[in-house]
Amino acid sequence: MPLSGDAFVEEILQTVRTKHSKDNPIIGLIERGEIDREALKGFVGQFYLFFPKPFPKPIAAMLGRCPDDPELEKMWIENVVEEGTGEISGTDSHRGLFIRFAMSCGFASKEELDTVQPLPETSAFLDWRDLLMYQRSWLELFACQGFCLEGTASERMSRIVTGLTTHYGFNLDSEDIRYWTLHMGVDEEHMKVGPLAVRKYAVTDQQQELVRQSVQKTLDQFWLAFDGIKRAFVDKDPVYAAWRNGSA
Ligand SMILES: [Fe+2]
Repeated sequence: MPLSGDAFVEEILQTVRTKHSKDNPIIGLIERGEIDREALKGFVGQFYLFFPKPFPKPIAAMLGRCPDDPELEKMWIENVVEEGTGEISGTDSHRGLFIRFAMSCGFASKEELDTVQPLPETSAFLDWRDLLMYQRSWLELFACQGFCLEGTASERMSRIVTGLTTHYGFNLDSEDIRYWTLHMGVDEEHMKVGPLAVRKYAVTDQQQELVRQSVQKTLDQFWLAFDGIKRAFVDKDPVYAAWRNGSA
């Protein structure tokens, strides 16, 4: 017997709580100001590869897989427009906002930022997201993006903003950290897509099981990607020397 829509959404939210990206150790280290600026720069470079650099194209690809549901379509269209232009929030493309932040964290130019190579964990995470986008059902894709990635952004961003403003010299209203402060609000809106899609369309045992498995895998892969940043730039594991000195 499948769970009711509300019960299943509640179960998924509970699963997300057990491995929420805001709880990864690297986020706490930033929040408490416990990593140096070189490690913070390493974090910034990898985070750029997670979202700002490829976006909005992944969001557009997700829109391309949307079923004929006007409410879901509208959510993705707004997401693409906001990511690509910042027109809805009246800011800049989110990539543009992030590049400005990166420059305030020690990157000399967009060109330098674009030379950052993905850690193995970053590559694995991006490969999984591609696999979700093109080889899994749209329902799994929307659930994972909605619940695990954008769905955990707001709380993750809040902790990062606390760290940046308390320990790294940024003002809360500074344009330099607009990328982070903006997402504390914007993603609250974007995260509705997960519950909406799941409540309405994950109605059989099989659909619910597929969503369960993909959500867990997305939480695991996203967590590993943050672990990789800690291993490479905070723990300074010798295996990651090439990424630390930029020769990877
Ligand atoms: Fe964004």
